[in-house]
Amino acid sequence: MVIDLRSDTVTKPTPAMLDAMMHAKVGDDVFGEDPSINELQTKAANLFGMEAAIFCPSGTMTNQIGIKCHTQPGDEVICDKLSHIYQYEGGGIAFNSGCSVKLLEGDRGRITGEMILNSINNRNDAHKAYSSLVSLENTANRGGGSCYDFKEFARIKKVCEENNLTLHLDGARLFNAIVAKNEDSKDYGKIFDSISVCLSKGLGAPVGSVLIGTKEFIAKAKRIRKVFGGGMRQAGYLAAAGIYALDNNIKRLEEDHRHAKFIAEALCAKDFVGHRIARPRSRVRCRALCEQSHQHARYVGAQRTAAVSVHRIDDEIGQRLADLAFDTGYGRKIRSQLCDGLNRCPAPLRHVAPTHLGERQHLTDERPDMHGGQH
Ligand SMILES: Cc1ncc(COP(=O)(O)O)c(C=O)c1O
Repeated sequence: MVIDLRSDTVTKPTPAMLDAMMHAKVGDDVFGEDPSINELQTKAANLFGMEAAIFCPSGTMTNQIGIKCHTQPGDEVICDKLSHIYQYEGGGIAFNSGCSVKLLEGDRGRITGEMILNSINNRNDAHKAYSSLVSLENTANRGGGSCYDFKEFARIKKVCEENNLTLHLDGARLFNAIVAKNEDSKDYGKIFDSISVCLSKGLGAPVGSVLIGTKEFIAKAKRIRKVFGGGMRQAGYLAAAGIYALDNNIKRLEEDHRHAKFIAEALCAKDFVGHRIARPRSRVRCRALCEQSHQHARYVGAQRTAAVSVHRIDDEIGQRLADLAFDTGYGRKIRSQLCDGLNRCPAPLRHVAPTHLGERQHLTDERPDMHGGQH
């Protein structure tokens, strides 16, 4: 058995989801004629009590479209220094939108209204980039799945309104937060100007994200999506997976959270777990790990951002992980990325050692030419 805990993106569709995809009604979505995509977009917008939504191939694209729609070149985007939009979207904020970024030192990926207020540039100072957009992430990926307290959103919203800033949410794993904190998705629609939600993470769809906002915003987003090459044709087959995910897989994130917590607790009970969960702070860090894992579906244990490195795995934990992989019955393989201590890992986990560790890409100093060599 292969246990893969690298990410909640490695899931595969269940037979029921595949069945929904097989029977999807489709059309050409560039002409707005795909019934399944239209249904998904309406469903997503309604879930957040917002006017409209647009289906895109990835969360990177929904974020980048959101940033492009909300800004002008020369503007500044305010976000936490761990934000996915800054760390993992290939410099897209500069590349696509020509904006600079004000990085804030938040708490595990979460920033506050007060921090945002203090970071707004003086609009009358021509030396300064024009602060125009705040982007939050919930759950915060590199925060290890940390979730915002909803009251902080209200404070942030107030700062944005009073200072003419738009507010975007990278909600790649928003439903994990909503389920873990028993929140109402419609409340998010009242706070944010735009929300990006990934269907291809814990919700289990193979592809796709939705960007949600006002009708006017989404009309603009549709133009930008075309420019970014994200206009798709009979992609209703993919949207059908998204519809299935929203109908069936939100509530069951609770089950993922239970499993994540179970693994975290099992690992934390072991004194050999985690060089970064080092004693004497181990108790505190263990609690943090359990909380992170609880909030972060299928994103546990050996996952890098959970800051765990397993140096030695014994039979008991191996067996429990193996049982869990069976129990989930999710048609997915869970494969363990056991970072440093892989070679020291005894049976039964050794046979689930990740093959990809041996296949790391070569690091290169070479910088790709993004301008076709014409500059
Ligand atoms: C917080 C966050 N935002 C956005 C994305 C981008 O999603 P995608 O991989 O679909 O581009 C990810 C991907 O893991 C993510 O973790």
